[in-house]
Amino acid sequence: MNIRRVQLFPIATPRQTGIANQHVIVKIEAGESHVGWGEMSDLSHVPMYQFDLPELARMLNELLRGRDARNMAKIEDDLIKFFPDEGHMYSRSGLVRQGIDLALHDLNARAHNAPVYEVLGGKLRDRMRVCYPIFRMRSVEEVPGNLARVEEKLAQGFDLIRVYVGANLEADELFLGQFTDRFKGRVEIKSLDFSNLLDWRRSALAIERFEELCDYMLVESAAPRNDIEGTAQFRRRSRKPVSEHVLHIHHGWQLLSAGAVDILNVSPYLLGGLRASLRLIALAESARASVLIGTTQELSLGTAAVAHLAAAARVLDYPGDSTGPQLYTDDAVIAPVQYEKSHLLVPEGPGMGVEIDEQKLAHMTANAEWTFGVDLAGVLDRTPQNRPSAQQDR
Ligand code: LMR
Ligand code: MG
Repeated sequence: MNIRRVQLFPIATPRQTGIANQHVIVKIEAGESHVGWGEMSDLSHVPMYQFDLPELARMLNELLRGRDARNMAKIEDDLIKFFPDEGHMYSRSGLVRQGIDLALHDLNARAHNAPVYEVLGGKLRDRMRVCYPIFRMRSVEEVPGNLARVEEKLAQGFDLIRVYVGANLEADELFLGQFTDRFKGRVEIKSLDFSNLLDWRRSALAIERFEELCDYMLVESAAPRNDIEGTAQFRRRSRKPVSEHVLHIHHGWQLLSAGAVDILNVSPYLLGGLRASLRLIALAESARASVLIGTTQELSLGTAAVAHLAAAARVLDYPGDSTGPQLYTDDAVIAPVQYEKSHLLVPEGPGMGVEIDEQKLAHMTANAEWTFGVDLAGVLDRTPQNRPSAQQDR
């Protein structure tokens, strides 16, 4: 089952919350008639440069053409050398490897007419609880809109949110206090996420105030990027479990051996796909640590991959973050992944269990605006340029 061709399709899709994100859909053809689809998800984060797509496609074809699509281990081993770990949250290398890893899993599972979780060894669960994100507020004027969004998502069955905090403590406190008054007993908070914005002392002081206002399951990214010692300091003072995104397998080991985290945030987009993610879950198991599956906000294809990972994960003891299909207003699949009462359901069809609509994909590619916004707060916080605080930023 030798690989014949790799194709890359750029698409851009807006979110209900007002920004648009770029993604690359990957198509791999092998043997006589085998096809697999993958996704490089959400490329619109810092650092602000974009792929040279024709060049990347040329490179991937040189590397993969003629290779046996069944030997995912060997292909991954080579790709890790050509696209090494970059050690930051939105690693382009990780996304390239994810795109190929997902497409190969899809292709191999389809070749057996089986769901991807079978290629991963089977399933332990058929759904994963997930939370809806409330993006970071930079002014108190953003509070009422976010409370209304909680109400709206609750009506659609989402009884779990996470809240990005740390840019404006007054807005955070107002939101969390009013959230408790309005939604206590109806909606839970999975995490308060500092996104590595504050040093651990500031995060610890903020948490002391937040604790009085609301209940929540865990704290995410409470010290600056790469500050493992600071994360450990924060954890020693935290009453709740602490989680951090794992950037690569050695980073996972560093976080665990330094006693910096209770939970590894494992994300295929960052680690480079399903195989790499399973290794991190095994690492957490070895340390008797917990696991949650994070997100960059994937489309349906990338979210389906997360669902198959969740199905096969030996350790998975916190809710995940994969709600991309709840945020994006468009997608390249015929039918999106399904959610039920704040749970992402593991698709049961062949491969990833979602089907690419090739006509739609061609249309979306032709219309993809392959550009960045230049509103840095919006890029970082995932909020639109017309947010109330933007006036004050200028
Ligand atoms: C998103 O795109 O919404 C997320 O990747 C945001 C983040 O940085 O967690
Ligand atoms: Mg993202």
